[in-house]
Amino acid sequence: MSPNSRDAATFAPPIKCQGIKTRLTDWIRSLTAGLVEGRRWIEPFAGSCAVSLNLRPERALMCDSNPHLMHFYRSVQDGSVSPESVRWHLEAEGRRLLDKGEAHYYRIRERFNGSLSGPDGAGDPHDFLFLNRACFNGLIRFNRRGGFNVPFCRNPARYAPAYVTRIVNQVERARDVIRAGDWEFRCQRFEQSLAEAGADDLLYCDPPYAGRHTDYFNCWTDADEATLAAGLARSRAPFILSTWHHNVHRHNPALEDQWSGYRILTRKHFYHVGARERNRHAMVEALVTSLV
Ligand SMILES: C[S@@+](CC[C@H](N)C(=O)[O-])C[C@H]1O[C@@H](n2cnc3c(N)ncnc32)[C@H](O)[C@@H]1O
Repeated sequence: MSPNSRDAATFAPPIKCQGIKTRLTDWIRSLTAGLVEGRRWIEPFAGSCAVSLNLRPERALMCDSNPHLMHFYRSVQDGSVSPESVRWHLEAEGRRLLDKGEAHYYRIRERFNGSLSGPDGAGDPHDFLFLNRACFNGLIRFNRRGGFNVPFCRNPARYAPAYVTRIVNQVERARDVIRAGDWEFRCQRFEQSLAEAGADDLLYCDPPYAGRHTDYFNCWTDADEATLAAGLARSRAPFILSTWHHNVHRHNPALEDQWSGYRILTRKHFYHVGARERNRHAMVEALVTSLV
């Protein structure tokens, strides 16, 4: 399969997370045109895997410090999570949610947090999906003991048939992409992933934005940004880094501090806080790259 061809529109992955980059896929695709083929794609901060699932590299090393994300996609790969099992699970638990209301969401959350016995402490991937798609704003956040702690979205009818079908289709597409190539999912910190990258690889790095979304698996400091910059400068692999450039309040100081020696591309993105038009905010996103 040609990684840069578009035989279908950009699709959303089955898992949602903070900082998801589905909207940047076309931009990254145009920057990497002709480069993905023949190289291994490495994502040290894979998150929802939105970018790679759309770019479809033939070889990929997908890594994240969050074990639940990596275990979910490994389970899709080995078939223990399938479109059929997802439909069954979401329909059954969705009916209970409709019947019992938010108490059922919290029961599943308790069940998930009480059985973190998968690889690297991962919880049940079907329950993880249920929580991720029924929680407030599609967030992933864990407390200090590593327990999922996002509240319910407050809609007991969340798992309506059309919504279940949409998620089932997303799982199916993710499975088809992953199985068409040679992909590996690992729970590990970014330093380890950078250390494994060689001249034949291509790195796409999308670290958390410093000072935001801090939780058990997801904390990012200026020191981490400096370690990442040093690691990428040492690496023989070319890289693309996603970050923010500026918003109405301030500029990203890391661009000056860490990334000024590279090519920096920018694009404006609008997002809404709440439903009102006046709450439409502009954020200028940046791609920093060693590609010339
Ligand atoms: C901005 S998100 C990536 C989003 C992803 N590009 C997407 O489209 O869904 C950052 C990810 O980095 C992971 N992360 C945070 N600190 C990490 C670390 N030290 N090493 C590896 N991954 C880390 C988080 O768990 C999170 O999934």
